[in-house]
Amino acid sequence: QKRVTVTDLRRARREGRKIACLTAYDAGFARLVDDAGVDVILVGDSLGMVVQGRESTVSVTMDDMVYHTRMAAVGRRHALLMADMPFMSFTDPASALRNAARLMQEGGAEMVKLEGGADQVAVVEQLSGHGVPVCAHLGLRPQFVHKLGGYRVQGRDAATAEALRRDARTLAAAGAELLLLECVPASLAAEITEMVDIPVIGIGAGSACDGQILVLHDVLGITPGTPPRFSRNFMPGHEGVGDALRAYVEAVREGRFPAPEHGF
Ligand code: KIV
Ligand code: NA
Repeated sequence: QKRVTVTDLRRARREGRKIACLTAYDAGFARLVDDAGVDVILVGDSLGMVVQGRESTVSVTMDDMVYHTRMAAVGRRHALLMADMPFMSFTDPASALRNAARLMQEGGAEMVKLEGGADQVAVVEQLSGHGVPVCAHLGLRPQFVHKLGGYRVQGRDAATAEALRRDARTLAAAGAELLLLECVPASLAAEITEMVDIPVIGIGAGSACDGQILVLHDVLGITPGTPPRFSRNFMPGHEGVGDALRAYVEAVREGRFPAPEHGF
């Protein structure tokens, strides 16, 4: 079975086929997620919360990311493997390049994701110019939690919405292969998806994006505490983990997830 590539993601956008993505952090779950038919597996720095039990993603290190990416790479067969650049790992183009290289060479990732707006243009250009495919994560950026004072929807007023549009345009022009929009109003996400010419993956960003992603633990209903409102537990009514993961993929492909109540 052929490996999913960036070309496949672009084609899916062009042909209007929804891209289904999920996180995984180890070989066993990466295999289950892959078997369910997702297009992209993200080794997210959400592992700081759902695996390490920390309060945010800020404590996650490059070594943590390499370790988990390497495990996920063992379980993955078909999906494209994307890994997060953790907090402070891309403060300048040179360190970004060095750290992205670790995720690809030691970890086995084919794409890296970084939380950044127009400030990260030089970093994205550097990575892209050296053959590192980049997903730019916009909207709610969890690594900014201490600056934001919490996790909330971004781009609700005219000025921040305009900043988001500008960031999306700028990063796509800088060579980003994918955009990820987290917690932005559905109407704004739809506008950005229409505006850029690269695939857009949403989480808490409505149903008009080219694809969707959720944190594995939310889909399986095992996240400690209250799960985010934009997520959905797919376990009820399904026979085990594999069945629930397939139900998620099917719901994304058929446009049944996210429903209006999962958006803002
Ligand atoms: O770390 C993560 O799991 C993520 C997703 C929520 C997009 O960045
Ligand atoms: Na992340």
